[in-house]
Amino acid sequence: MGQLPSSFSNLTKLTSLLLFSCGLVGEFPKGILQLPNLQFLELFNNSDLVGYFPESHLSSHLKYLCVGNTRFSGKIPASIGNLASLEYLDFTYCNLSGLVPPSLGNLSMLTYLYLSGNNFWGQLPFSLSNLTKLTHLGIISSNLSNFLANFTQLTYLYLDSNLFTGHVPFWVMNLTKLNCLDLSENMLQGSIPSSISQLENLQNLDLFSNNLSGTVELDMLLGLKNLTQLCLSFNRFYVLGLASCNLNEFPKFLQNQEGLTYLDLAFNNIHGQIPQCSNQSLFILHWSHLLVLNISSNRFQGSLPIPPPSISFYSISINELSGEIPPQICNLNFLEVLDLSENNLSGNVPKCLGNFSNSLTILNLRRNNLNGTIPHTWTSGNKLRMINLGENKLSGQVPKSIVNCAMLEILDLGSNQINDTFPFWFGNLPELKVLILRSNGFYGVIASPEFNLAFPKLRVIDVSCNSLTGSLPSKFFQSWNAMKIVGKGHLSYMQVETRSFVRGFPDHYDYSMTVTNKGLTMKYDKIIEVYTIIDFSQNRFAGEIPESIATLKGLHTLNLSNNMFTGHIPSSIANLTQLESMDLSQNKISGEIPQQLLQLTFLESFDVSYNNLTGSIPQGNQFDTFPKSSFEGNSGLCGSQLSRKCEGFSPSISNENQGHGSSIEIDWKFVVIGYGSGFLVGFVIGQIMTTRKPNWFVNTLGIMQQKRKRQTWRGCRN
Ligand SMILES: *[C@@H]1O[C@H](CO)[C@@H](O)[C@H](O)[C@H]1NC(C)=O
Ligand SMILES: *[C@@H]1O[C@H](CO)[C@@H](O)[C@H](O)[C@H]1NC(C)=O
Ligand SMILES: *[C@@H]1O[C@H](CO)[C@@H](O)[C@H](O)[C@H]1NC(C)=O
Ligand SMILES: *[C@@H]1O[C@H](CO)[C@@H](O)[C@H](O)[C@H]1NC(C)=O
Ligand SMILES: *[C@@H]1O[C@H](CO)[C@@H](O)[C@H](O)[C@H]1NC(C)=O
Ligand SMILES: *[C@@H]1O[C@H](CO)[C@@H](O)[C@H](O)[C@H]1NC(C)=O
Ligand SMILES: *[C@@H]1O[C@H](CO)[C@@H](O)[C@H](O)[C@H]1NC(C)=O
Ligand SMILES: *[C@@H]1O[C@H](CO)[C@@H](O)[C@H](O)[C@H]1NC(C)=O
Ligand SMILES: *[C@@H]1O[C@H](CO)[C@@H](O)[C@H](O)[C@H]1NC(C)=O
Ligand SMILES: *[C@@H]1O[C@H](CO)[C@@H](O)[C@H](O)[C@H]1NC(C)=O
Ligand SMILES: *[C@@H]1O[C@H](CO)[C@@H](O)[C@H](O)[C@H]1NC(C)=O
Ligand SMILES: *[C@@H]1O[C@H](CO)[C@@H](O)[C@H](O)[C@H]1NC(C)=O
Repeated sequence: MGQLPSSFSNLTKLTSLLLFSCGLVGEFPKGILQLPNLQFLELFNNSDLVGYFPESHLSSHLKYLCVGNTRFSGKIPASIGNLASLEYLDFTYCNLSGLVPPSLGNLSMLTYLYLSGNNFWGQLPFSLSNLTKLTHLGIISSNLSNFLANFTQLTYLYLDSNLFTGHVPFWVMNLTKLNCLDLSENMLQGSIPSSISQLENLQNLDLFSNNLSGTVELDMLLGLKNLTQLCLSFNRFYVLGLASCNLNEFPKFLQNQEGLTYLDLAFNNIHGQIPQCSNQSLFILHWSHLLVLNISSNRFQGSLPIPPPSISFYSISINELSGEIPPQICNLNFLEVLDLSENNLSGNVPKCLGNFSNSLTILNLRRNNLNGTIPHTWTSGNKLRMINLGENKLSGQVPKSIVNCAMLEILDLGSNQINDTFPFWFGNLPELKVLILRSNGFYGVIASPEFNLAFPKLRVIDVSCNSLTGSLPSKFFQSWNAMKIVGKGHLSYMQVETRSFVRGFPDHYDYSMTVTNKGLTMKYDKIIEVYTIIDFSQNRFAGEIPESIATLKGLHTLNLSNNMFTGHIPSSIANLTQLESMDLSQNKISGEIPQQLLQLTFLESFDVSYNNLTGSIPQGNQFDTFPKSSFEGNSGLCGSQLSRKCEGFSPSISNENQGHGSSIEIDWKFVVIGYGSGFLVGFVIGQIMTTRKPNWFVNTLGIMQQKRKRQTWRGCRN
């Protein structure tokens, strides 16, 4: 950790400098690259290390030069062509730009050449014909012509993240020594050529995110006995030949793959049943080493397949599965992520789900048809960070044992049929950030003299559409410390780091939630870290709005509508300068709308309709943009927004503060659009908004992309 002292540039006898994954920061001393005796320089995965290449006098004895996954920027100097001994050159996922110097084509000793993931212009400006020793190649190019056809000794070929169109080229199938073929993130069309079966040494086949279509003939992968990683997600493949329960007919490919550890078929158009025989799914039965299975966003039907006990990440969300969740799911003792959301699963939540895996961090059963009660088997010491049981038909009470989930960050029990008093003890969950209890039968008071509603980290609370009563005492918001901080708007999403499934990088699972914002109920596939919401709407809260609410200076959305609040709008609400949306409609609030609210220049949505407000509506700033409907139903209110004008009195405030967008507005666009038209739109926007991979870009796309990219590079790199 830390910065390299520039005095390293004086170590003239240094031959090797190996700083793999050292968390280096600052700028890499250029002089090191000119040390006369340096032969090995390894800087891989120091993603905050900035660096530049000197124009000349590069260490002429260099054999091994790896700056992959750092922030080396600028151009590669032409003098690199003088490094006649260079065997290994890795520039992947840096920030290099300009033209690749033609002199690279002279480095005839190269066996490894990795240039992918930079900002180079144009095509490879040299022929590779002098590089006869290459076995590992990762390049940028705009032309997938047959210039590689003679490189039959290649074992690792990365042509990812180019702009290749057309079909998967046939000459690739002549590179029979390939262990790893990565054509991901191009625009290839057509189907997978059946000659792929010639690549019998293939261990990793990655076609992620192309335009490939057609039937995936699994039989043609029959010969690929060593395949351990198969990634076909984000294409348009159709049918997978998985419809049979007859062992003889079942694709042999799937039976041979005992070594398969990683299968990602998410976001395709896979139809049909997953074959089931006596409650076991043949489809995955045979892959006894499977760690990752992601087949979300397809159209699988039938009952839930149970993967082998080795499984660590299992997502089959957004399919058409039905039937009950078999209790065998609780045999998966190594599960970290279980995502069965958005299917049609019914019956009870198996009781054992509360305590079957010591490593479970994500449990997502949202949007199914589950009924019965919530299990109470949550044991202490569990690692759960997200429990999402929302949008089911669960009834009964909230089990107190949830308090054992001490690491819980997001709890969604919304849109069920729970009949219980408000679970005060949630306030003691030290890490809780998001609490959603919307649309249930919660009743009684929310404040309690015996319980301290601490909620130190809470950012989102949605208890709307329940039958909660009573008032909010003045000290109610006292300890909601996370909402008191004005978050800085940068793209950081709530996510959980999970174990690295394949040696190397850690992975992430993004949290999601469904909330109502600015009048729209939306599912957020990602939650921006700084976003804060209080939604108490559609209950029977009464009394005054406590002044203490004004201490929650980070608040973005406040919805108290459809209650029985009385008293005045506290003028101190004007202190909530981040507020974007405020809905106090359908209460019994009286008095005037405080003129101070004109200070809330981020306010985009404001509604005080159907109260008992009087006096004049503030004029100017964002108040000029609110529609009539925001104010109607208040017989004593007047102003230019309403047909009832105020007589002889029209205070107006200058517009000097207008025109500032919210500090996190851009983030919102991203998330909202991502919801509206599905993940893929977010994906496209993500590409437009980013210039650099893998950090921000990859984080935005969530786990599969991240895992894929990182894993490919680590999984294959030797
Ligand atoms: C990438 O390089 C450009 C100049 O080539 C520089 O402006 C930018 O800050 C660099 N980005 C990072 C993340 O280092
Ligand atoms: C490659 O090397 C040859 C001979 O050493 C030299 O003549 C030529 O200029 C070099 N090409 C480039 C592009 O550096
Ligand atoms: C290949 O090597 C030959 C002989 O060293 C040299 O003349 C030629 O310029 C090289 N080709 C490229 C593309 O660098
Ligand atoms: C690709 O390369 C081939 C052979 O080098 C050439 O004939 C073709 O015109 C190139 N295509 C494009 C789009 O540059
Ligand atoms: C492959 O090698 C042969 C013989 O060395 C040569 O004639 C041919 O042009 C090469 N093909 C390509 C695409 O470089
Ligand atoms: C692939 O190899 C076969 C046999 O070695 C040869 O006939 C064919 O021309 C090669 N195809 C390409 C595209 O290089
Ligand atoms: C598969 O891998 C094993 C061990 O890694 C190796 O011995 C064998 O030759 C490989 N088989 C094929 C068909 O590549
Ligand atoms: C739960 O659903 C199952 C089938 O979906 C049904 O048979 C059962 O009666 C339901 N139980 C309750 C308590 O509603
Ligand atoms: C909710 O539970 C209470 C007490 O257990 C019971 O009296 C009431 O009828 C229940 N309400 C509903 C709608 O089931
Ligand atoms: C990359 O570096 C970070 C520390 O900077 C480390 O936590 C992570 O494990 C490293 N990844 C790999 C693959 O070594
Ligand atoms: C509102 O802000 C003003 C000025 O910063 C401060 O004096 C006042 O105490 C604040 N009110 C509340 C309720 O936080
Ligand atoms: C409206 O407010 C006035 C005082 O401003 C009060 O006299 C009246 O009772 C209130 N009406 C309702 C329906 O609450």
